[in-house]
Amino acid sequence: MIIYDWRDRLFTLHTENTTYQMKADEYGVLLHTYYGPRVSGGDLSRLIRYADRGFSPSPAESGRDRTYSLDVLPQEFSCAGAGDFRLPSIELELPDGSHTADLRYTGHEIRRGKYALDGLPAFFGGEEDADTLAVTLEDRTARVSVELLYGVFEKYDLITRAVRVTNRGEGPAVLCRIASLCLDFPCADLDLITFDGAHAMERRLHRAPLRPGVQSAGSVRGMSSHQHNPFVVLCERDAGEEHGLCWGAMLLYSGNFEAAAELGQFGDARLTLGIHPFHFRWTLGPGETFTAPEAALVCAPGGLGPMSRQFHRAIRERLLRDPYQDRPKPVLLNSWEAFYMGFDEEKLLSLARAGKELGAELFVLDDGWFGRRDDDTTSLGDWSANAKKLPGGLAGLCGKLNAMGMEFGLWIEPEMVSEDSELYRAHPDWVLCPPGRPHIRSRQQLVLDFTRPEVREHVFQAIRAALDGADVRYLKWDMNRGLTQVWSPALPPDRQGELYHRYVLGVYDLLERFHREWPRILIEGCAGGGGRFDAGMLYYTPQIWCSDNTDAIDRLHIQYGTSFAYPPCAMGAHVSASPNEQNGRSTPLETRGTAAMSGAFGYEMDVRGLSPEERAVVSRQIELYRDCYDLIRRGDYYRLSPPGEEGVPAAWAHVSPDRREALVSVVAGPTGAARPFRTLRLRGLDPALVYRVEGDGRLWPGDVLMAAGWPIPRMGEYESLRLRLRAEP
Ligand code: DGJ
Repeated sequence: MIIYDWRDRLFTLHTENTTYQMKADEYGVLLHTYYGPRVSGGDLSRLIRYADRGFSPSPAESGRDRTYSLDVLPQEFSCAGAGDFRLPSIELELPDGSHTADLRYTGHEIRRGKYALDGLPAFFGGEEDADTLAVTLEDRTARVSVELLYGVFEKYDLITRAVRVTNRGEGPAVLCRIASLCLDFPCADLDLITFDGAHAMERRLHRAPLRPGVQSAGSVRGMSSHQHNPFVVLCERDAGEEHGLCWGAMLLYSGNFEAAAELGQFGDARLTLGIHPFHFRWTLGPGETFTAPEAALVCAPGGLGPMSRQFHRAIRERLLRDPYQDRPKPVLLNSWEAFYMGFDEEKLLSLARAGKELGAELFVLDDGWFGRRDDDTTSLGDWSANAKKLPGGLAGLCGKLNAMGMEFGLWIEPEMVSEDSELYRAHPDWVLCPPGRPHIRSRQQLVLDFTRPEVREHVFQAIRAALDGADVRYLKWDMNRGLTQVWSPALPPDRQGELYHRYVLGVYDLLERFHREWPRILIEGCAGGGGRFDAGMLYYTPQIWCSDNTDAIDRLHIQYGTSFAYPPCAMGAHVSASPNEQNGRSTPLETRGTAAMSGAFGYEMDVRGLSPEERAVVSRQIELYRDCYDLIRRGDYYRLSPPGEEGVPAAWAHVSPDRREALVSVVAGPTGAARPFRTLRLRGLDPALVYRVEGDGRLWPGDVLMAAGWPIPRMGEYESLRLRLRAEP
């Protein structure tokens, strides 16, 4: 619900449990007055204190009043150069060379339904579940206007923001920095949580109290990256899973980003989130508009758990465009860790047959099927089947798979090219690289210039031709290197600073085309595992391969971190061989299943050589996954006990929305002597119901399970158990 009070020029945005408020003050400055638990309303600018602060300048209109300073006031959209020395939302270079932007309120519009962004991912919502507020700010001297867009999803407690900047002058204006989100907090006693890591160890949670100055996490790799995620949390110091005030902020963007938190001199804090300013310079010609990507916010008065569950619900229902929205996704078997690139059709079919017997439904042919690709030095860009490996082409293989009752899925890496390829030989100028420089390779490959429509058109047609005749139900869109030597002949020298963003827009453009052309195909995103696991990609690829690390124990950490923002159903998760290919750790097959079942479940191993006992375990896992599919897909996710705490098993639960069913998973860590007894306190159940706990065979009242807990039996190293809870009628 959006309420405008014209007397006080006050905008109040209510969701079910939160309130967000801003006010255009007497000078037209848009002040941020409140974002927190839902309150009845009124003008919350009464919370703002005005004081004469040394070295904090005042705008011309305030005359001799030294208590009015943009450097001190909480703002909705901060401008560089106009007296606020904190993190700016916008930095503009004007035709006269000045860097001053001073934007003031001039009007607004309130609409039913959610705004959409041209060419960019965004949460969607109809008139029944979302409203839009568009506030216009103008700098009359610079002749630049800014439209601040707010989407209010009442039932999801979700508020989205986006920004459109328009040059209304006669000369060019250059955008040097644009944050999609600026959020001011009157208090400083906050922790900042970021999700950081590396390839094969993505999204580990890091939490630290804000300290004076700016703390930031971001990426300048041209992708949202394995190293940092465009999702951060600010929360009260003592906030935990089920208590304390938390604000989660995500950017729906897959390229360079910056999340920055600043603890100000007077105990205030500011969070900005947007495109990273590194090598960003966007020229706006007269009449042109730039749209900054969408940011999404959840404020949760009751802790990190409720915050995550709100994001999960909103993403599942208002972001993912999943062809399997209303029916179960097939259990997949991927060829990568089984064969890497060493296969032929016979080998693939024998693997598929073995998988089929165990219950797998979709066979995914990973890297190595095209050109002369037997290793990673060659053939990216040549999207036609390798005739030696696949004599009947993709259509032939697909036909045979379909005949055995298996659906067919395929790996592609559209953004890349190998120097040893027909494509590169024909178009050496289609890669990113400034003239006269030797190529910087990463995984022996180069990056195609996706800013150019002709490059995207070629890739689209090549992939379309490859799929022709094959009934492909799934595509894995991979991306295996960061961007370097970011230069394109298609842009003049003074516009090269647009390239990083234009690259992302190019990727989105092609993904959207795929989505429209093949609405029935499920596209799984991937970037060397989870190097581009962000809400922007999720709009086009409703599941993303979480990590190249398939070790069940490392995966617990990766999935744990990922779950703070993104729902389990979006995390590609596979059972792989033991000892694990990446880290050599041995884990029981049951545990590998338990870990993978907390995501979009599948297998990625040579299942042909399994023993009869192992085959029985796999069949049971697939059966259980199918049985629990709705719980995992639509249930509420509870992090019960984080992985990695010495002597404490990791535990989590999926609980059905009506709280009558739950799947609880527990995984023990490394072995140790004299382990204490552990009791697991469940969450999310109905205290008034009695549950039958399959696996221990007893009846347990919900209130007992939540208040007193369930006694975890003695477990061996890396062993796991799964409890199925069903409410008694
Ligand atoms: C990286 C992906 O994350 C892997 O799953 C696999 O598809 C390889 N690329 C193939 O090159």
